[in-house]
Amino acid sequence: MSTIAISEPEFVALRDAIRDRFGIFYDDTKQFLLQSRLQTRLLKRSCSDFGAYLRFLTGGLAREEEWDELASVLSNNETYFFREKAQLDVLVGEVVDESLRRGGKLRVWSSACSTGEEPFTIAMMLHESKRIAPAQVSLRASDISPRALERAARGFYRELSFRATPPEVVQRYFHPFENGFFVNDDVKRMVEFFRINLLDARAVEATGPHDAIFCRNVLIYFDKPTQKRVVEAFAKALRPGGYLFLGHAESIMRLTDLYEPTITSKAIFYKRKPDAD
Ligand SMILES: C[S@@+](CC[C@H](N)C(=O)[O-])C[C@H]1O[C@@H](n2cnc3c(N)ncnc32)[C@H](O)[C@@H]1O
Repeated sequence: MSTIAISEPEFVALRDAIRDRFGIFYDDTKQFLLQSRLQTRLLKRSCSDFGAYLRFLTGGLAREEEWDELASVLSNNETYFFREKAQLDVLVGEVVDESLRRGGKLRVWSSACSTGEEPFTIAMMLHESKRIAPAQVSLRASDISPRALERAARGFYRELSFRATPPEVVQRYFHPFENGFFVNDDVKRMVEFFRINLLDARAVEATGPHDAIFCRNVLIYFDKPTQKRVVEAFAKALRPGGYLFLGHAESIMRLTDLYEPTITSKAIFYKRKPDAD
């Protein structure tokens, strides 16, 4: 099968459309990556070149279905259980403390959860801590990729997902099946999955108010204006003083002053300022 080549103008038009839709930004170094990721899509839609594919994405009858496919094809879904655990310790420690003091529910949102390892880790750690009853926890998890969400809802994982998981946790919260493990029902029941595009500020705001939002290892794929837009929408979905957890490589210090950063020896996180709106 010969490769269908993408021209410079087609690349620019397509990457801008993708950025506007999902935030994911393919810079000039990623032209060939985009070209190769979309080969199968062009064939599926019987497009002989990228110009035809672009026309399909803007005017084709099934364009929304195709954008849904792209949400799965274009996202990097790399994740694993107990990733960047120090931040999760902050959740189980001081965020839970605050909820207990307020006497309300603990409301957590894993906003780009990929295949579910992040929210299930949170569920397991909350369960393990025995500090708060599952009935007092609202743990929601979302992603833009329909395929990742299907896998999350199934709750079946292979070895790579467990690279940072203590063996006793696997024993306690999973059961083996063929060449992998299913997460146990009591953990599964704690997480509610749904689909959302983080660029949809109104939908993001409507998910709130949350005590904590996790948005880890996502903003690195966005350009600066999109990062700013997303974290400002999060501020509207967090209660005053609510926590935002980002990935190690993601800093919003120069993007917005709606948050107070906290840097400890182990973890970095941001707290929504009381007057941020
Ligand atoms: C690398 S994974 C991060 C998973 C997990 N948060 C972690 O840190 O392990 C990035 C996820 O962001 C999702 N994503 C990318 N753009 C998005 C958008 N506009 N709205 C919602 N999710 C998005 C992708 O589908 C992907 O599953």
